[in-house]
Amino acid sequence: MKTVLDNCLVMFGRKLMPKQVVLDKGKIDAILELGVKIPPCKIIDCKQGILLPGMIDAHVHFRVPGAEQKEDWITGSRAAIAGGVTTVIDMPNNNPSCTSQEALEKKDEIVKKDSICNYAFHFGASNDNLEELGKVEGIASFKVFMGSSTGNLLITDKQKLEEIFTVAKNRNIVVAVHAEDEEMLNDNVASAKDLGWNNASYHSKIRSNEVEAKAIADALDLQKMVGNKLHICHVSTKEGIELIRAAKKEGRAVSCEVTPHHLFLDETATHKLGNFAKMNPSLKSNADVKALWVGIADGTVDLIATDHAPHTRAEKEKPYWEAPSGVPGVETMLLLMMDAVNKEHLSLQRVVELCSTNPAALYGLGRKGKIKVGMDADLVLVNLEKKTTVKNGKLQTKCNWSPFALWELKGSVEKVFVMGKEVRL
Ligand code: DOR
Ligand code: ZN
Ligand code: ZN
Repeated sequence: MKTVLDNCLVMFGRKLMPKQVVLDKGKIDAILELGVKIPPCKIIDCKQGILLPGMIDAHVHFRVPGAEQKEDWITGSRAAIAGGVTTVIDMPNNNPSCTSQEALEKKDEIVKKDSICNYAFHFGASNDNLEELGKVEGIASFKVFMGSSTGNLLITDKQKLEEIFTVAKNRNIVVAVHAEDEEMLNDNVASAKDLGWNNASYHSKIRSNEVEAKAIADALDLQKMVGNKLHICHVSTKEGIELIRAAKKEGRAVSCEVTPHHLFLDETATHKLGNFAKMNPSLKSNADVKALWVGIADGTVDLIATDHAPHTRAEKEKPYWEAPSGVPGVETMLLLMMDAVNKEHLSLQRVVELCSTNPAALYGLGRKGKIKVGMDADLVLVNLEKKTTVKNGKLQTKCNWSPFALWELKGSVEKVFVMGKEVRL
């Protein structure tokens, strides 16, 4: 039987129009004026809520397989739904890493049993899996870590990088990079240890602007030579944004994302949050945060993705050098973005582009990211007026903490539909 989402507001350009949206067999079947008679079907009254395409978080670490104490796919996908995210694209730094067709298939076996949202996988590039990169099917991108972070995926050899970029070019696959320069990073770590730096407020001095800018510049140089599609993950610096803006002006196949934590927090957050605000790349200065927002306004930034990287409280409570990097985010992205819309930092239309339409387009999810007849019925109903307070201990993510705890955000997630079916938690 068809389902009708009656009395909802749907965005056309910048305008919100009252509509009834008919869902059938997992797709958007029709978008009708209010009052138009339809054959008997299940009717859901949306009470003038705003219906958006489901958010697509193109950068999550759901920890399956190998670190299920931090997150598993049940808790991760519940967190996604709670946050209005209907599709996630998961990173390969698992244990074992997702760097072979076999590992990919094993991961999929577990995930397909547990997931209550749609998903796709990034595929890890390692120092010795060129053959796999040449033939693996059904992936969103090749993920390259240019600087070390959680897990053991790391590529520092220039020749190796060029080979990976070349396979990507030949197969028309996006290379998504974690851009931090390993050599500079190691130098900074050594001198930080000499100086006795031992808390999270130093993290942005170690994982500095220069560390990110150097790796982005190198990745862009290589992209220019090879001509592949290059996506820079989680840009956190003014310098990074400027380099990417210049490359895009040359018409190159370059895109980038920023995370909510880099948009809504700066390095001073470490004073209160300590390791709970430790992530890679680090939080930067207020001037950097402003530059990211300029990048959002002028189109340099293509996507917002969370880099949802849960770690347990116990792990985060360890001393600075031992505490792992990463913060959860999939559950709070849309709330933060709605709050930003209310504060007029950007339009709701731009939020939809950044968090749904653009990630779908970049990673080849052709049937997602728009409310249009024939598209997948992945939808989120929101209320822009109702406030939501983020609370530690009340989250779906297994780690059950957030760097945004106690933030009162104007906006709420009311209902979520995945492939035409309402998902209730
Ligand atoms: O902070 C981070 N955490 N950055 C990464 O690159 C990896 C991630 C994780 O998996 O914990
Ligand atoms: Zn990363
Ligand atoms: Zn990540």
